[in-house]
Amino acid sequence: MMLKNKTIVITGAAGGIGYSASKRFAKEGAFVVGLDVNEELCKKVEKELIDGGYKAKFIQCDISSKEAVNKAFDEIESLVKSLDGLYNNASVFLDGRDGKLGDIKSDIWHKILSINLNGMYYCTKRALPLLKTNGGAIVNTASSAGVTGIPECAAYTATKGATVTLTRSLAVDYGKYNIRTNCIAPAAILTDMVKASNLNNPAFNNDKFLEMVTPLRRWGTPEDIAAIACWLCSDDASYINGAIIRADGGITINGDVNR
Ligand SMILES: NC(=O)c1ccc[n+]([C@@H]2O[C@H](COP(=O)([O-])OP(=O)(O)OC[C@H]3O[C@@H](n4cnc5c(N)ncnc54)[C@H](O)[C@@H]3O)[C@@H](O)[C@H]2O)c1
Repeated sequence: MMLKNKTIVITGAAGGIGYSASKRFAKEGAFVVGLDVNEELCKKVEKELIDGGYKAKFIQCDISSKEAVNKAFDEIESLVKSLDGLYNNASVFLDGRDGKLGDIKSDIWHKILSINLNGMYYCTKRALPLLKTNGGAIVNTASSAGVTGIPECAAYTATKGATVTLTRSLAVDYGKYNIRTNCIAPAAILTDMVKASNLNNPAFNNDKFLEMVTPLRRWGTPEDIAAIACWLCSDDASYINGAIIRADGGITINGDVNR
């Protein structure tokens, strides 16, 4: 039980990697407070966890809305006096609408920044006073796009680069409160996001595709990422602060993708 008696907020908690994390964190003993924009999924996942005997509360919340985040955290504060963790996981990748900087429509640029970057700001700002009570962990979510150049998604890439650098800011500013801030930079994790972002990629359904790009020769799973987030939120990671963990099967260090 790596997270016994810990209360942890997860954003984007009802789908993809966040859903896996919700299940893993609950199994490890945490009270999981899930925020997700998808109301139907919130109800479904909350029920699944509670029916499984776990402690969970899911709140429908669009993290790009300051008012919605404040309302969600008001509700959280009515349930608990402190937090042990915040897993900033929610983001969007708007395939076909994001692109080269010169081609992105202004409303799309602002939409991506408002979810991926402002959303993290609103949630972290409200969580910090609750994390300060006993110390705790913040886990941010970047991407291979935050640590290397990925073509044709300039807005997403800008938010993920900012996530990496904001992680370092938080780590140095809040370490003295025993708040550890770390970041996971995933790539090629088989979720709806990856499927949606590869719709126009003819190589996607080709078995050779991953052989070409991934030293491990396989897709990552949401469970692979949930396990890292779980460890970062646990006391086993008590001296890890400001780390950027590339969880990508080695994609971003592969010098020759043809071999
Ligand atoms: N899947 C990958 O290969 C991959 C690669 C790099 C980075 N990431 C990052 O991992 C994280 C999770 O990605 P995923 O693949 O699970 O994505 P996903 O699209 O499968 O799931 C995202 C979840 O976030 C929720 N969400 C979306 N917008 C929201 C909003 N405005 N407010 C609250 N919730 C919202 C969705 O409803 C969904 O449940 C993201 O930060 C993503 O950028 C994923």
